[in-house]
Amino acid sequence: MLNKKIEKALNDQIKIEAESSQAYLAMASWAESNGFSGTSAFLYKHSDEERMHMLKLIKFVNDRGGQAIIPDLKAPGKEYKNLQNIFKLLLDHETHVTNEINSVVDVCLKEKDYTTHNFMQWYVAEQIEEETLARNILDKLKLVGNDNGALYLFDRDLSAMAAASGTEAGE
Ligand code: FEO
Repeated sequence: MLNKKIEKALNDQIKIEAESSQAYLAMASWAESNGFSGTSAFLYKHSDEERMHMLKLIKFVNDRGGQAIIPDLKAPGKEYKNLQNIFKLLLDHETHVTNEINSVVDVCLKEKDYTTHNFMQWYVAEQIEEETLARNILDKLKLVGNDNGALYLFDRDLSAMAAASGTEAGE
């Protein structure tokens, strides 16, 4: 059975994952309407993954005798300057999410809830991957600069990455 502090921390995290999914969906839509089909495929996929992160938490809370709350969400962005702007926002967002995950882990330790602590380790590992991925993409974009040919290749690379990530969302 979850104690109330843990339940609250997990419900807060449900909201963060839901907002991440919305944020990446908004970025995907912008990329798609601005001709970056590969980047949009990558971001749609990433949005789905965030939804899966949210669902995993919802199931865990309910399975452990708590009640998962489906939250109101703040509106995501609409306008982005360029792809570099998008991936900078994405990296900043993921860094924020990592801090929030660490706070949940901290509550688990304080409350001596080792089951939830164990469950949260999947998120800890996932955040390392997500931050690294966002950093690598941002590094590539810095190299690309304003070179349209390179931007075209970058977009194609992201399309391949989206296709290759296959069923990752369910892992
Ligand atoms: Fe679910 Fe990208 O954090």
